[in-house]
Amino acid sequence: MEAVAGKTGYYIDLEDKYGAHNYHPLPVVLSKGEGVYLWDVEGKKYFDFLSAYSAVNQGHCHPHIIKALNDQASILTLTSRAFHNDILGEYEKFVTEFFGYDKVLPMNTGVEGGETAVKLCRKWAYNVKGIEENKAKILFVNGNFWGRTLAAISTSDDPSSYAGYGPYMPGFESIEYNNLDALAKALEDPNVAGFMLEPIQGEAGVVVPDEGYLSKAYAMCKEKNVLFIADEVQTGIARTGKLLACDHENVKPDILILGKALSGGVFPVSAVLADDEVMLCIKPGEHGSTFGGNPLACKVAIAALEVVRDEKLAENAERLGEKLRQELRALESPLIKLVRGKGLLNAIVIEHEDPEAAWNICLKLKENGLLAKPTHGDKIRFAPPLVMNEEELMECVRIIGDTLLNFK
Ligand SMILES: Cc1ncc(COP(=O)(O)O)c(C=O)c1O
Repeated sequence: MEAVAGKTGYYIDLEDKYGAHNYHPLPVVLSKGEGVYLWDVEGKKYFDFLSAYSAVNQGHCHPHIIKALNDQASILTLTSRAFHNDILGEYEKFVTEFFGYDKVLPMNTGVEGGETAVKLCRKWAYNVKGIEENKAKILFVNGNFWGRTLAAISTSDDPSSYAGYGPYMPGFESIEYNNLDALAKALEDPNVAGFMLEPIQGEAGVVVPDEGYLSKAYAMCKEKNVLFIADEVQTGIARTGKLLACDHENVKPDILILGKALSGGVFPVSAVLADDEVMLCIKPGEHGSTFGGNPLACKVAIAALEVVRDEKLAENAERLGEKLRQELRALESPLIKLVRGKGLLNAIVIEHEDPEAAWNICLKLKENGLLAKPTHGDKIRFAPPLVMNEEELMECVRIIGDTLLNFK
């Protein structure tokens, strides 16, 4: 690894020496965040164009969310689910009404939400659909990413996720994304219980399916009595210009998985939402988490959703997203092969003979005051906090344009 000088180098060396080497971050050490901005330990200010993989939709350290955190932190933080607490029910009512479901199952990280959805789907397969014990299948799509647990990587076709971690979990099948024929064929198997997918694939590089794919896939699942499970951990909570990415096609998933921005990036809060027929398949003692549904998380999540609603973040994401894609295309940079996205979940695909070009562009963007990260080699995701205004967005476009123009 290249040595970095100053305070930045000191902190990077500490991580390198004492931390596992399971990440490859950009060489910047951040110490403060506010709204759409981040500051590094040298005092340099940046636009955040990643938003912690869409966890910080509400902007860094949003005062309404931080107040909720601080207020609750000095009263009660964790009881476990061995006892009731006076915040959980209030949150459950709020979040189910917010998204229009009968019930919620609270967890912490996004991948736990995905695991929970898979377990719920299997229970439903045996208890309601009547699939023979241990025969249930769940369909996934190529290019999916839903985290790092063994179940999640067992569905992955990305060797950097799954290689070396076998044996893998059975009961999963992968089909091509955005291919309804492949779905129709897979649905012929009567043991299929669920179809789980991201409505827009985030980690794969913001892959947007054809219009109509989600609504048709949903209808096909309904016809075969298969649960449509939407992983909206990255796309949900206003990121794509609607509250949920599925809303673009008026699809109401049978199981909805949320995470990341459910806490505004304040700490890990995830949730699985479903109606009673599905949710009540899991009985007391059959699933849980020590921290899931803790009062601090519940207060933070209510505040985070209030910000999304009160500040009309979906509308802002929709409007600024259109503007961003239009401006990026207008740059007519030979380095940009493609601009794609919805709302403020966007990516550019880089055209360059050097496979490191996207990484090197991100280094230059950093020098110029904007933080973004490549995904899958040649793609750079552009996903700023949704509290950005148009003037700030245009400043970001200027930085991106200058960086690309001067990139060697
Ligand atoms: C679509 C999607 N699902 C699930 C996850 C996993 O979330 P977490 O890292 O909080 O476990 C991610 C993380 O990037 C994601 O993008």
